[in-house]
Amino acid sequence: MTASPEPTSERHDAVEVIVAKRDGGTLTDSQIDWVVDAYTRGAVADEQMSSLAMAILLNGMDRREIARWTDAMIASGERMDFSSLSRPTADKHSTGGVGDKITLPLAPLVAACGVAVPQLSGRGLGHTGGTLDKLEAIPGWRAALSNEELMAQLESVGAVICAAGDGLAPADKKLYALRDVTGTVEAIPLIASSIMSKKIAEGTGSLVLDVKVGTGAFMKSLDRARELAETMVALGTGAGVHTVALLTDMSTPLGLTAGNAIEVAESVEVLAGGGPSDVVELTLALAREMLAGAGRDDIDPAEKLADGSAMDAWKAMIRAQGGDPDAALPVARESHVVVAPSSGVLTRLDAMAVGLAAWRLGAGRARKEDPVQAGAGVVWHARPGDEVTAGAPLFTLLTDDAGRFDRALASLDGGFDIEPAGTAYSPAPLVIERVG
Ligand code: URA
Repeated sequence: MTASPEPTSERHDAVEVIVAKRDGGTLTDSQIDWVVDAYTRGAVADEQMSSLAMAILLNGMDRREIARWTDAMIASGERMDFSSLSRPTADKHSTGGVGDKITLPLAPLVAACGVAVPQLSGRGLGHTGGTLDKLEAIPGWRAALSNEELMAQLESVGAVICAAGDGLAPADKKLYALRDVTGTVEAIPLIASSIMSKKIAEGTGSLVLDVKVGTGAFMKSLDRARELAETMVALGTGAGVHTVALLTDMSTPLGLTAGNAIEVAESVEVLAGGGPSDVVELTLALAREMLAGAGRDDIDPAEKLADGSAMDAWKAMIRAQGGDPDAALPVARESHVVVAPSSGVLTRLDAMAVGLAAWRLGAGRARKEDPVQAGAGVVWHARPGDEVTAGAPLFTLLTDDAGRFDRALASLDGGFDIEPAGTAYSPAPLVIERVG
């Protein structure tokens, strides 16, 4: 018999809950409510919660357990309420990909269509970039807003991208940091409850999930991505949030850039009516889902890109948070061009290889307290299906620190294929499936 560290007034003990899940059982509502609350207030130790997280990763949870776990994480903090706003709300969450700058053009675009977008975002960890890191490349822009500032900006501009406050699902903050260092991030019940507890607590009326699939994504297989999407859609719907998910390809990076300032510049091109066709396609697909979820599918977002109103909303959104949308963006001090080794058709560009290269150049961070370089990243000059010529630029690597080039080059090794001119290339669909 193992001794429990909890005082006897506790209604369960951690070992009992761990053993129940270790042995393949289902946890009761009372056990779940207790363990999430007790962990948040420090009555369950990190080593106990990490053992439980591993048992969940190995033995899973059923839908009732996941929903209850999500509710318990929501109950650990505050809930926001946007019902006093004069417009409906819609939000988007991406499970993270390389070159995934879609939030930047999407939030102002949907705002320009009359739907408010409260986008509470995070910083990047690992090879996928963080939305706040990208926006912080804009001189003067600040991520931290009070709840009052957030509400006022949603009413006046219609779009806010800011840091999620500490009050939202604090249980998740603590648990996510623990999962990160105990090999338990990949459990679908824990990913789904982590994402959805924050989105439900945030109080959005409708939600579109962009669940990435492929080498550059959390979910490498379509089956696992579908399971995650279905779990999250069920959680959102059960909580009264209109929720749909798109499964989208992340075997190839999005657009032509991965980094911070360079992704802002590419997003501005999209808002100006140009930009890479895949970024435009995904921005419009997600905008249409957000508008439909908010009951505004009478509006065509493509028109709002074309007539400049999405760009106006972008500038207003950046200015409202202290940024200068017309200021020059930071430029990396050093650059290195990689040329195509042969002529032909680029038939593969691996998202993970590009993401790792950008990260090693300084665009991302290894630990959450690390700084990022605003100007660092990778620009690729061809996308799969494009013809390339031997000796012509294929990638430009950007960093403030030339000592980083070697490791970035190593990660691009084997990350692309060039096949003889005339090789047939059929692109995989960007939007693979819709769940909801
Ligand atoms: N993003 C989250 O917010 N939580 C997870 O568990 C994984 C990705």
